[in-house]
Amino acid sequence: MTRKVTKAIFPVAGMGTRFLPATKSVPKEIMTLVDRPLIQYAIDEARAAGITDFIFVTSRGKSALEDYFDRAPELEHALEDKGKKDLLEVLATTNMESGRSAYIRQHSPKGLGHAVWCARRLIGDEPFAVILPDDVIAADTPCLQQMVEAYEEVGGSMVAAMRVPEDKASSYGILDLESESAGGLSKVRGMVEKPPAGEAPSNLAVIGRYILTPDVMKHLNGAAAGAGGEIQLTDAIAREITEGRGVHGFQFKGQRFDCGSKAGFLQATVSFALARDDLQEEFYRYLNEIVPLAHAAE
Ligand code: UTP
Repeated sequence: MTRKVTKAIFPVAGMGTRFLPATKSVPKEIMTLVDRPLIQYAIDEARAAGITDFIFVTSRGKSALEDYFDRAPELEHALEDKGKKDLLEVLATTNMESGRSAYIRQHSPKGLGHAVWCARRLIGDEPFAVILPDDVIAADTPCLQQMVEAYEEVGGSMVAAMRVPEDKASSYGILDLESESAGGLSKVRGMVEKPPAGEAPSNLAVIGRYILTPDVMKHLNGAAAGAGGEIQLTDAIAREITEGRGVHGFQFKGQRFDCGSKAGFLQATVSFALARDDLQEEFYRYLNEIVPLAHAAE
């Protein structure tokens, strides 16, 4: 039987250079899709998957994140006085149970693998999830929950995967598949981070959701820099395969938005706004008005 996954690492120490100048003082994860910060979507997804312990790997300038998850007594009292129960409920989703969240600093941005390794003492000898909040996934069953259900069947390590156009493969970690099976689960025989154009072993890319064994943490101990001069999580997971342990790619059901890029962030904003009952009608009307104009201007 697999051990239950209750801890998740949220690596949020990146510099977010693609969103400068905003990210000079606002952490990327606090930027909002409609009215909720990216990190809130990630937390909601983790909670739905049964995660109870939340580990944030942060860096300088990210204190807004800690404040976001703190209680705000003055605000709560003001809302109570005004009888704004609905807003109090919204606010409650940002609360963390005391002792269930931890903030660890990554002192220099040495890459995603290094950020995950920074949380090693809090993970100990347990399997753990990793969620990259800038990959936002809209799904009927939240992506990590789908993965946990599949993980309970096969164990080992698992990465979320998605088909990408061939010419985009060099921007992702790409899976080399041993076998593909029904239900979206594929056995992986290799992984390569950002392969040069034309050398990708498949068009199945790794997306920012992982369930990993504590052995992956051991591979990150003293790991050398890989693609882009960064310590890559992909390389540590690939070592699991060479050591004979199972790694699966899981093709989730849902739509992924790359909110680490401007175009992806805008697409997510439009999609999430259109999915909202309180905004749908007005926003849809507005888009209908301006889309023909944008074409006319070309
Ligand atoms: P990205 O590759 O998107 O980098 O990181 P970034 O710094 O956030 O953004 P750009 O490319 O400069 O615009 C993917 C994830 O890994 C985390 C990021 O916070 C993000 O969640 N990360 C990356 C770290 O925590 N530490 C690092 O050293 C690098």
